[in-house]
Amino acid sequence: MPGKLYMETVGCQMSVLDSELVVGTLRRQGYSLVSAPAGADVVLFNTCSIRESVEEKVYLALDSLKKLKRLNPDAVIGVLGCMAQKDQEKVFARAPHVDLVCGPGALADIPDLIATIQRTRTPQSSFSLGRKEGPRRDVEESFASWDPEREPGGRPTPFQAFVRTQFGCDKFCTYCIVPAVRGPEQGRDPDELCEEVRRLADQGVVEITLVGQTVNSYRHGKLRFADLLARLDAIRGIERIKFVSSFPNDMTDDLLQAVRDLPKVAPWLHVPAQSGSDTVLARMKRHYTVGGFLEMVARARATIPGVSISGDFIVGFCGETDADFQATCDLVRAGRFKSSFIYQYSTRPGTKAHTDLPDDVPLEVKKLRNNELLAVQSEVSRGITRELVGTSMEILVEGPSRRANREGFENQLHGRTATDHAVVFDGGEELVGRFVTVHIEEATSLTLFGRLEGAPRTEVRTPPAPRSRLPVVLG
Ligand code: SF4
Ligand code: F3S
Repeated sequence: MPGKLYMETVGCQMSVLDSELVVGTLRRQGYSLVSAPAGADVVLFNTCSIRESVEEKVYLALDSLKKLKRLNPDAVIGVLGCMAQKDQEKVFARAPHVDLVCGPGALADIPDLIATIQRTRTPQSSFSLGRKEGPRRDVEESFASWDPEREPGGRPTPFQAFVRTQFGCDKFCTYCIVPAVRGPEQGRDPDELCEEVRRLADQGVVEITLVGQTVNSYRHGKLRFADLLARLDAIRGIERIKFVSSFPNDMTDDLLQAVRDLPKVAPWLHVPAQSGSDTVLARMKRHYTVGGFLEMVARARATIPGVSISGDFIVGFCGETDADFQATCDLVRAGRFKSSFIYQYSTRPGTKAHTDLPDDVPLEVKKLRNNELLAVQSEVSRGITRELVGTSMEILVEGPSRRANREGFENQLHGRTATDHAVVFDGGEELVGRFVTVHIEEATSLTLFGRLEGAPRTEVRTPPAPRSRLPVVLG
């Protein structure tokens, strides 16, 4: 007996995509998506366990649902995703009003689990991480039979979509919980993947972002990531292909050449470096050195003209000295990162760092290093954006700019270049979903401002629609 569904998402693109698949499945069963938990029959939180603070926010949000459960005892409250996988029964212990706990490898079970809860009034849970040696229930079901159609309502926009290329991770960096909650790495069947992208193109999607924990490590039999890009590049209707996040050691020459040669593949590489100190990188078990990372950056710049490189960094990892941290600042400068996500290290039970390495950098020092690295990154970013002033860049128009609801800015639109630069310019709503050229006139470290040049390159293939209807908090 389908009713109203509320879904909230915390975490990375993987989590956003999982939510889209769950919402799509439940909508096909007759559920309608609502924008607030009050009055919903099913309330689902898709969670992340990358940091303790992110988990605590979810538990706080769950606390606030006690009242909803009192008013409507039949409402089903569910916790899905990475935190569900990690905490399992602990979720029921901390939030006894929760009815459903389901890990990211068992999302295909959700419709049945909800039906069972509604029929029996008993809490249900399901977890599966699959095994390398046997068929992976999560991968097989999630991608093949369970995902017959993608759900346009769950995407950032109707013309952009995330596409998963792989599930899980085999790298086992000492600080990271992901291998424990997402299981071993497995690449999707390329035929299924291409079929999904064809269907997305038919629905009006023009830009896909391939997502995987280490997206460029993709393999399926003899097929490698560069081969997959070539197959996707040939799909009609798709105009731009991005991919995140890459693992430095798997940035092979054939992949860089594919990025250079395939017209739809964006010249943007998001490659987490994490630290600029060899000692810290060894403690993190990242399996590369700073020299190796910079060699990869040099190869990328030599191969792909105008390539833009962004990264991730962790500050305050176990044993990080001032000298280690300064080495990270040096790497941000030497790598000329377009932008970086910077995280303060926080220990995660279930990781090797948690058991083997003392979390010995004081919080205050982590905060100071976080701010200092942000300032360094901002300076580097400003240098890069300044060089783009006076050039013309093609962007995909994503929608009204953040300031468009303020007086005097009503016509402001925003979009992104293939190099992942944010661009703001004046234009009409009819441009949303189209590729246009903008002449860049000003720049801050994060945003380029410009003026529309000429007519759009592409026809709009879907009507403009509001941004994500699924609330998302990136972890
Ligand atoms: Fe985590 Fe390392 Fe895998 Fe990235 S590569 S998901 S940091 S274990
Ligand atoms: Fe993503 Fe968080 Fe899970 S970052 S893979 S949702 S732990």
